[in-house]
This record gives sequence, structure tokens and C-alpha cells, in this order.
Amino acid sequence: MNKPFIVSLLAMLIVTSYGAEYRELDILGDLENLDVPQDDINEDMTIFDFSCLTSQNSGKNLVNVDSFGAVGDGVSDDTQAFTSAWKMACSAPRSVLLVPQGRHYLVNATKFNGPCQEKLIIQIDGTIVAPDDPTQWNPRFQRVWLEFSKLQGVVFQGNGVIDGSGAKWWAASCKKNKTNPCIGAPTAVTIDSSSGVYVRGLTIRNSQQMHLSIARSNTVHISRVMVTSPGDSPNTDGIHITASTNVVIQDCKISTGDDCVSIVNASARIKMKKIYCGPGHGISIGSLGKGNSTAMVTAIVLDTAVLKNTTNGLRIKTWQGGNGYVKGVRFENVEMENVANPIIIDQFYCDSPSTCQNQTSAVHITEVMYRNITGTTKSAKAIKFACSDAVPCSHIVLNNVNLEGNDGKVEAYCNSAEGFGYGVVHPSADCLDSHDNKSLDQTDKYLAEETVMLGDETENVHDEL
Ligand SMILES: *[C@@H]1O[C@H](CO)[C@@H](O)[C@H](O)[C@H]1NC(C)=O
Ligand SMILES: *[C@@H]1O[C@H](CO)[C@@H](O)[C@H](O)[C@H]1NC(C)=O
Ligand SMILES: *[C@@H]1O[C@H](CO)[C@@H](O)[C@H](O)[C@H]1NC(C)=O
Ligand SMILES: *[C@@H]1O[C@H](CO)[C@@H](O)[C@H](O)[C@H]1NC(C)=O
Ligand SMILES: *[C@@H]1O[C@H](CO)[C@@H](O)[C@H](O)[C@H]1NC(C)=O
Ligand SMILES: *[C@@H]1O[C@H](CO)[C@@H](O)[C@H](O)[C@H]1NC(C)=O
Ligand SMILES: *[C@@H]1O[C@H](CO)[C@@H](O)[C@H](O)[C@H]1NC(C)=O
Ligand SMILES: *[C@@H]1O[C@H](CO)[C@@H](O)[C@H](O)[C@H]1NC(C)=O
Repeated sequence: MNKPFIVSLLAMLIVTSYGAEYRELDILGDLENLDVPQDDINEDMTIFDFSCLTSQNSGKNLVNVDSFGAVGDGVSDDTQAFTSAWKMACSAPRSVLLVPQGRHYLVNATKFNGPCQEKLIIQIDGTIVAPDDPTQWNPRFQRVWLEFSKLQGVVFQGNGVIDGSGAKWWAASCKKNKTNPCIGAPTAVTIDSSSGVYVRGLTIRNSQQMHLSIARSNTVHISRVMVTSPGDSPNTDGIHITASTNVVIQDCKISTGDDCVSIVNASARIKMKKIYCGPGHGISIGSLGKGNSTAMVTAIVLDTAVLKNTTNGLRIKTWQGGNGYVKGVRFENVEMENVANPIIIDQFYCDSPSTCQNQTSAVHITEVMYRNITGTTKSAKAIKFACSDAVPCSHIVLNNVNLEGNDGKVEAYCNSAEGFGYGVVHPSADCLDSHDNKSLDQTDKYLAEETVMLGDETENVHDEL
């Protein structure tokens, strides 16, 4: 049977089995089909074998930071060499900006602006380190260390390391010590207002705050990127996506002190595939709706992930008083180990010293599917749907969810969610029990069949990473 046929059969079956009241659950078909095109990478750019590079025969314009006076001893300030090399590389077509391996380049906060000539490759094989003293940081660059903007069709690749030297920033955070002022710290790497950007194979570690931020960009493909920071480093999100569309994050291993991946306002068509997360705060959509703001997030897929020892698993978090929506999310094939709050929707999110009052508006959360989610929970409640009374969560679909406490005991919590569709779910939530579950066996059978028939090459993330 082909996929469209199964999907429509499934949608039909669900509609008939749930009866008129659940007719809206034909959204299940949409959720099944929800996908993010992984457009073909420009072969010419990425199959590029760096070791074969000679300026004569490759047609590439090699720009080595060392040729611009970079010292690479980890002590000398190489900022000027990097900005000069950038100017040269950016202004000629088919350039390769090379950061050679085996050295440590100390680089200050810098903005690398495009647009550049076509087919720029940034080959990072060495280590780029940030100055470690927050008191010496240029206040004009309060929120960025290395910022790249207005790029089109650019590849960042290599086995190199980008190290934010964040320890002193963490100690100065108000999350670490309440007597410290709450001041935003830099993001290690920001890709802003760009399109057709590929980031492959790099390690980003010990960032001052977020590690990699994709902002106001379209078509960004991040693969085999590793993020490492201590589990107690504050606000060190791994990969942050804001106001961006068509972003693929694949084969990434993220260990950090905040969200492994966070997706915020005005983002759509984000696909995460084969992600390892831990320690960290899990995979988050949000926070959204802070200060009565409007948020719109649609079409998010997480397929195949391992979360270990994280403080949340799959989380959607919104503030009271917001507007807008989160619509169309599919989390599937996720294995959890020792995770607190494995499945959580929190419409009362309040990361503020004062308590947040309940309000009559909230960001609407709708069309969210959890499928094939298994493993162990650290919290008593493995599933929490803390949905707003004024704007209930709707059209939540769960199937083949099996979460266990380490002591075998496990519960769920459900406030104000409606329009559920579900198959096998453990632990079962109140909101599930309240509906007639007749014919679910049948639904489940088809859900299961669907899963098997569409089951793709999904490999074991443990082995991969
Ligand atoms: C970096 O920039 C700051 C502020 O402009 C400056 O004080 C410092 O000397 C620069 N270099 C290094 C390596 O920190
Ligand atoms: C917090 O910072 C203050 C002021 O710098 C210091 O006196 C205090 O010992 C710090 N507390 C902790 C727990 O580190
Ligand atoms: C789990 O995370 C906590 C807090 O980050 C840490 O103290 C603990 O050692 C971790 N446990 C394992 C098994 O990694
Ligand atoms: C969220 O994005 C929408 C659409 O781009 C925009 O209108 C709105 O102002 C954004 N909200 C915030 C808080 O930035
Ligand atoms: C949000 O709206 C509520 C209700 O109208 C109001 O009380 C509150 O002050 C607003 N908050 C902000 C940050 O504007
Ligand atoms: C469920 O997810 C796991 C990965 O967590 C995967 O190995 C398994 O094949 C999936 N099962 C189905 C039926 O898709
Ligand atoms: C807000 O509403 C929720 C759900 O009804 C309730 O559990 C919570 O106590 C309320 N919070 C406040 C601050 O009133
Ligand atoms: C569905 O109903 C059957 C009895 O008809 C019950 O045993 C089972 O626990 C229910 N399942 C859920 C998930 O509520």
C-alpha cells in the first residue's frame, strides 16, 4: 500500500471510529504527512575534499587566516587577521576561508557580514577561542561573539572547535548567584538573515550563553554538529532557532546546561532528526508569549532522538497572556532515560522572580502528535498537559507512548486539554480516560501498521554518536 492511501484510510478510520465529535481528528493525516523537505545539498560545495586543495587545480580561492598574520597561539589577538581574511574571502567567488588545524586562534567579538561572492566555504579545522574575561568584553557586542549575517549559499565545515571560554560568564550569571545583575551574555555563533547555509561537523563548546543561533534565516542545514558544555552552565542552549524556516538539524549530539534545541517565535518547517540530548533541558518549543506578545510556530518534526538525564523531554512552554499559536508538531521515535518531565506542555511557564498571574489569553497549542516515545522518567508525572483554562490545548494525539518511573510508579497530569486522539498510552492521563475509547484497538492497529510501513532507515542513535 502506498503512503497517501494509508494516510487517507487512517484518517477515514479515525473519523468513523471516533464519531462526529472527533471529526476534527482528520488532522491526524496532516500530522502524518508533516515533513520538512531536506533539499539536496549543493554537491559542488560539500563533497569538496579539502585535502586535495591546491590553488592551481581546484578553481578555489584559498584564504588562510595565517597569511593575514594570525598567530594561533591562543594568546595573541587574531581578530584583525580574521576580519582581513573574511574581507578577502567574501569578496572573491569560490573562496575557502581556512582556519588550519592544530592551533588555537584567539578571536574577539566580531561581525562577519555578507553578502559575499558565490560558493564561500568556511573551513574550520583548528580551534577558535573567545577571550574569557566578561569585564573586557566590548559592550557593543553584548549578545554576540561570532556573528555571520546576510550570507547566501555558504558552507561551514571541518573538524574544528569553537570555544566560548564561558566559565567566567557563567559565574557572573544571575542564575548562578542572585546578587549578580541579570545581563544577557553572548551567543557563540549566530547565523542571521541568511539562506542556504550548511553547518557540518563542527564542535561548539563552553559558550558564554547560547551555542548556535539561527535567526531570521531560511533553508539552513545543520549536521554532525556537537555541542558540549557542563550541565550546570546557565542559559547555554545548544541550537536556538528564531524567526527561521526550513531548518534541518541532523545527527547532532548536544550536552549542555539549557535546552538542547529551542525553537521560538516565527519559526516554521523545522526538522530534527537523530538527535542526542543530555545533560540539558530537552527539546523545547518556546518559551512563547512573554509580556502578552504574539507567537506563531508551525510544522515542527522531531524524529529519532535519545534523551538522557535531562530536566525535560519534549516540551512546549508558553507564558500566560500571550497570543497566537503553536500548530502542527510531531515528536516520534524518542527514547528517554532518567528524564524529568518526559512529555510536557506548560501554558503557565513563568521564568521570572515574581509569580505570573493567570490571564484570559494564551498561545493556543494545537495539533501535536507524540508517537513511539519510550523510556524512564525521573518525575512522578511522566506526562503533563498543564493547559490554560481560557485557551485549552487541542487535538493532541498520542500513540505507543510508554514511560516508566524507576520505581515502577508513574502518573500523568492533565488540565484543560480537549479533542484527544490516542492509542496505547502509559501512563494514561485523565483527559484520555474521559473519552469513549471504543475502536481504539482498531485505530491503534492502523497506527502501528502505518508506522511499520513508513518506517525508514532510522538507525540507532547510540551507535551513531
Ligand atoms: C577585545 O576587545 C576588547 C574590547 O574592545 C578589548 O579590550 C580587548 O583587548 C580585545 N582583545 C582581546 C584579546 O580581548
Ligand atoms: C554571590 O556573589 C556575592 C557578591 O559577589 C558573594 O559575596 C557571594 O559569596 C556569592 N554567593 C555564592 C553562593 O557564590
Ligand atoms: C544527571 O544529571 C545530574 C545533574 O546534571 C548530575 O548530577 C548526575 O550526575 C547525572 N547522572 C548521570 C547518570 O549522568
Ligand atoms: C512573532 O512573530 C510574528 C510574525 O513574524 C511577529 O508579528 C511578532 O511581533 C513576533 N513576536 C515577538 C514577540 O517578537
Ligand atoms: C498583559 O495583559 C494583562 C491583562 O490585560 C495586563 O494586566 C498586564 O499588565 C499586561 N502585561 C504586560 C507586560 O503588558
Ligand atoms: C520506535 O523508536 C525507536 C527509537 O527510539 C526505534 O528504534 C523503533 O524502531 C521505533 N519503533 C517503531 C515501530 O517505529
Ligand atoms: C492558574 O490556573 C491553573 C489551572 O487552573 C491553576 O492550577 C493555577 O493555580 C493558577 N495560577 C494562579 C497563579 O492563579
Ligand atoms: C479503554 O477501554 C478499556 C475498556 O473498554 C480499558 O480497559 C482501557 O484501560 C481503556 N484504555 C484507555 C487508554 O483508557
